[in-house]
Amino acid sequence: MNPNRPTDSLPAPGAEALAQSEALTDLIRGRIAAASGWLPFDRYMDLALYAPRLGYYGGGAMKFGRRAEDGSDFVTAPELSPLFATTLARPVAQALQQSDTRQLMEFGAGTGKLAAGLLTALADLDVPFDSYAIVDVSGELRARQRETIEREAPALAAKVRWLDALPETFEGVVIGNEVLDAMPVRLVVRKPGAWHERGVVVLGDRFAFDDRLVMPDAQIELIDAAIDEANGEPFAEYVTETHEAALGFTKTVCTMLARGAAFFIDYGFPRREFYHAQRATDTMMCHYRHRAHTDPFLYPGLQDITAHVEFTGIAEAGVGTGADLLGFTSQARFLMNAGITDVLNELDPSDVKRFLPAANAVQKLLSEAEMGELFKVIAFSRGIAGTLDAFAGGDRSHTL
Ligand SMILES: C[S@@+](CC[C@H](N)C(=O)[O-])C[C@H]1O[C@@H](n2cnc3c(N)ncnc32)[C@H](O)[C@@H]1O
Repeated sequence: MNPNRPTDSLPAPGAEALAQSEALTDLIRGRIAAASGWLPFDRYMDLALYAPRLGYYGGGAMKFGRRAEDGSDFVTAPELSPLFATTLARPVAQALQQSDTRQLMEFGAGTGKLAAGLLTALADLDVPFDSYAIVDVSGELRARQRETIEREAPALAAKVRWLDALPETFEGVVIGNEVLDAMPVRLVVRKPGAWHERGVVVLGDRFAFDDRLVMPDAQIELIDAAIDEANGEPFAEYVTETHEAALGFTKTVCTMLARGAAFFIDYGFPRREFYHAQRATDTMMCHYRHRAHTDPFLYPGLQDITAHVEFTGIAEAGVGTGADLLGFTSQARFLMNAGITDVLNELDPSDVKRFLPAANAVQKLLSEAEMGELFKVIAFSRGIAGTLDAFAGGDRSHTL
């Protein structure tokens, strides 16, 4: 049985989806039993999101879209408006030109909208490129990506390929939108005088959290100091995440990048802000039918689970490989610098049906109250001298 019944009015999934969730629940119970009754949260999150065929990204959930009625759970910038891809294409083009490279690689390509938009915009800008590789842990999304690209950028679809493994080296531009936040995190709890790790246990017919005393490792020690530095006040309990998967991923990508740039766009904060008292109950969030909530045990496999990105750690991981930090700024500043208002103004304002939704979407991408400030862009490079126009004003690398 599914132990994770909704406690409020969240819409119930259909029978097929429920059966998938129950199968995943059984699988996770088995893993918990095999781990002597206690599973670290990152392993739970990994199974809930990526178990083949059953996890949220491994299975058939609709995921991305604009409205709950579509059966989707959340909207991302490339889904919100094609202007996001068209604008991002400008710094991508500049990075290709400045590094004299001709290849693109996108991680976690979702529905394929960003790929289709970037391909089209780069061709419109007359930027020569040879290939667009997509890397996604979710095989299920490949068919959807292919369909989007063939529909929206048919003349360029032949340049796209899907990789099963990363090349040892890559020369070109890497892009990842909302990929870092989708990587499994451990949950750790600071209690007076001792650190605990929050794991998952089976309690009757439900999953529940259970805290175990742990010896602080290097990540926990770093966080321990960061909490004090950010607040200067003692905490009875501070719950947060460690981000080993995102750090490892950043190292892998930056090591692979022999020449060119890697852009990651995601929500989060530099370390000093991340560990502020405001976030003392962790940043882990779940998304189901466009409602954000904090119960990771609701319908396993049918909802997204995410955590904010700690960008100082990401910067250290990238720079530690010898890559340069190309820039770090808010999404609003990055898109403004890259010319999103010019891109919008290319549309005809008298074509109200097209112009108004586009203007509304741009407002969402830029607004401080929406995505403009919470979302950041961090970029690494090798072989690029100077900076890019998109980081020319308002670069916040010094806050990392
Ligand atoms: C929140 S979705 C974002 C999708 C898309 N980029 C967008 O903005 O609409 C996260 C995506 O990252 C993928 N992902 C997570 N970890 C990954 C990894 N290590 N390598 C490649 N893709 C990954 C997931 O499968 C999923 O497609």
